[in-house]
Amino acid sequence: MNIALIGFMGVGKTTVSRVLSRQLGMPEVDVDRRIARQEGRSIPEIFETDGEDAFRDLETAVIRELCEAGRELAGGQILSCGGGAVLRSENVAELKKDGVIVLLTARPETVLSRVGDGSSRPALGGKVTTEHIAELMEKRRTVYEAAADMTVSTDGRSPEEIAEEIRKRAESFFTRPPKYV
Ligand code: S3P
Repeated sequence: MNIALIGFMGVGKTTVSRVLSRQLGMPEVDVDRRIARQEGRSIPEIFETDGEDAFRDLETAVIRELCEAGRELAGGQILSCGGGAVLRSENVAELKKDGVIVLLTARPETVLSRVGDGSSRPALGGKVTTEHIAELMEKRRTVYEAAADMTVSTDGRSPEEIAEEIRKRAESFFTRPPKYV
């Protein structure tokens, strides 16, 4: 049984997945880090050189590979997904086969404070303002919500508190048989 963390850039998916991994003793994999390592390039470089569609193809392939590899693991894994990973329904279907999808949310102001100058977030297109973040977030909201089995707000909370809530709420999913869609 996997736990996949999804949500907008800067909601804390990477940090929370590390804490969850420690708390649950489950391995965690960061999809973007895996793509960058495999390609030997940063995510902004891949966007810049090959374009977003090429990045999305890599993302889909890596998610599929990780899910397939995870089926060989006894205890499941925590997958920290990039903010656009669930924009493709095939990725959602793949993630749902093996586990629970947890949507992390944050206010646009919180995201702004976490993304710095935005240079590591090419999907923001250099528009690092609360207004632009709010607009993109709103565009993605229904897709995020449709993909999610549970939603956890991160505003003003520590990664430990967030991980604790996920652990408690995920327990019921761990006792259910996996969904094959
Ligand atoms: C993206 C989010 C990024 C990364 C890529 C695209 C997006 O991940 O996958 O830059 O479209 O929201 P984070 O959510 O970890 O920043």
